Amino acid sequence: MSFQLKDSFGRIINNMRISVTDRCNFRCRYCMPEEGMVWMNRNELLTFEEITRVVRIVSQLGISKIRLTGGEPLMRKELHRLVKQIAGVEDIHDIAMTTNGFFLKEQARELAEAGLRRITVSLDSLDPIKFSEMTRRDYFHKVWESLELLTSLFPAPIKLNVVLIRGINDDEIEKFAELARTKPFIVRFIEYMPIGADDAWENTKVVPTHEIIERINAKFPPLAQVEYHGHQPADRFRFSDGIGEIGFISSVSEPFCSSCNRIRITSDGKLRTCLFSLHETDLKTPLRTGASDDILSEMIIDAVRKKEEGHLINRPGFVKPQRTMSQIGG
Ligand code: 5AD
Ligand code: SF4
Repeated sequence: MSFQLKDSFGRIINNMRISVTDRCNFRCRYCMPEEGMVWMNRNELLTFEEITRVVRIVSQLGISKIRLTGGEPLMRKELHRLVKQIAGVEDIHDIAMTTNGFFLKEQARELAEAGLRRITVSLDSLDPIKFSEMTRRDYFHKVWESLELLTSLFPAPIKLNVVLIRGINDDEIEKFAELARTKPFIVRFIEYMPIGADDAWENTKVVPTHEIIERINAKFPPLAQVEYHGHQPADRFRFSDGIGEIGFISSVSEPFCSSCNRIRITSDGKLRTCLFSLHETDLKTPLRTGASDDILSEMIIDAVRKKEEGHLINRPGFVKPQRTMSQIGG
């Protein structure tokens, strides 16, 4: 591999997130409205073969890490078949997935066998009642049981994504910190972003990273930074006694756009160069009308060159993208 996808700000892109479906069996309040979600038609979704072709093309352009997302990726039947196909692409070194965890109990083993290396589970509460308030589903126990299984199947520690919303689950910060100290999980606190479908976002509901750190430091051995915006959006911290790791994704209070190394492809085959892009590049039509690999390659290189400098959440002119997180793919 010699080519490196690069944007006009000099950022090297080596990471692609692939949304495999917009469907989800949860209705997290920061993501979807309770009712009325309209799903894409199945024939609009890229097939596994089409996705693998895109992966093969981008792997020639320097992408070596893939993350599967949704909606809920495991709503897509036999996802392990896609994992296996992607794992067979030369130059892909890492395949990960972000999931709500519901289907893992049945599927984790075959996913691991197919070549999935790392899993991130969204888990916004450790309290079953609050979990149902956040996700509008009474599934805490099922998700919790699958977490226990994961630690035996995957060599890398399991990451847990926690979106904090002030007044709802911010009273659980210490409980999550305790979990990171007592179990083999990396807890990652994610700032609530204005990208959900139900328009409930307000700046005052965001719990900024510095506040979480202060709360944790008041109760546990102080946090010591181990990585600052390396190649991940999360800042990583260890407790100063060396037990447990915590991450922070401070998308609102401290955007990490300047070190962004990723692009996204939606389940209907649109290339997005930013979560907050207002423009996307249709790859599905050329894929389905006989475009050559070279043409698709050029389209991707061209789109990446125009990757936006960063999001403008904190600026007056901020425009929320039309698509929701579940339609973009986390
Ligand atoms: N703000 C912050 N994080 C969000 N996610 C989904 N919607 C939002 C939002 N509005 C998170 C999910 C999941 C990851 C893919 O994105 O919790 O862990
Ligand atoms: Fe589903 Fe994830 Fe959205 Fe929750 S955040 S509704 S689990 S897609």
